[in-house]
Amino acid sequence: MTRTTIIAANWKMNGDLTLVDQMSTALNNIEVAENVKVVVCPSFPFLAALTEKIAHDQVYTGAQNMSEHEKGAYTGEVASQMLTNLSVQYVILGHSERRSYYGETSDLVADKVKVALSAGLTPILCIGESEQERTSGQTEQVLVSQLQPVIDAIGIDAFKDVVVAYEPVWAIGTGKTASPEMAQETHAFIRDYFAQHNESVAQQLPLLYGGSMNGANCENLLAQADIDGGLIGGASLKVDEFPVICSTAKGI
Ligand code: 13P
Repeated sequence: MTRTTIIAANWKMNGDLTLVDQMSTALNNIEVAENVKVVVCPSFPFLAALTEKIAHDQVYTGAQNMSEHEKGAYTGEVASQMLTNLSVQYVILGHSERRSYYGETSDLVADKVKVALSAGLTPILCIGESEQERTSGQTEQVLVSQLQPVIDAIGIDAFKDVVVAYEPVWAIGTGKTASPEMAQETHAFIRDYFAQHNESVAQQLPLLYGGSMNGANCENLLAQADIDGGLIGGASLKVDEFPVICSTAKGI
């Protein structure tokens, strides 16, 4: 069974037109293994410029969020069709920063995933536990509580068009990466949870790891059987580091 490997950059609220220029030039020249896709997710104002500058058939762009509404009087929001209009192909949904700072619930995230899919976008659905949830042994329960509303909303078969990113909240921006073994164990749990619903969907689902992944630790993380790529924050802003991570990914 081959799965696509995805190396995704989440610039969060960072970057400018200079980074758009420099990163697109660097990525347009990378050599990546067959079966590896690279996705760069800048803030909304830079999506059009970045998408226009990308000229590599394994490099795509994505948004960091999207409205659950299709259009209308929702000041400040961005609709799925606006993204597809720009030829954007991916959208990060349910990032822990959206969940904790902007009150996004798993039900809202499920609505967004449904709208994204019907627009033809590939959602990168983020899930992950806090430090306190991990130390109190609730990791699996938390992950299920984040996944199940999405499974209920879109149906298990629709996950053939979804990417899932496991991002333990305690590892995001902290330099505290999950060890490759710990990340693998949790990824295996997630894949097994999907397998209980549909084995073939589970086997082809790309499962990304996120949380302080960088040029130094990516090789060991990506070598794990159930880690199919990364969702990278801080290191994705570095023009001399992110392309190296992309080229390190071997594909499966
Ligand atoms: P860092 O790589 O900065 O820890 O961020 C991870 C993340 O949140 C990506 O979405």
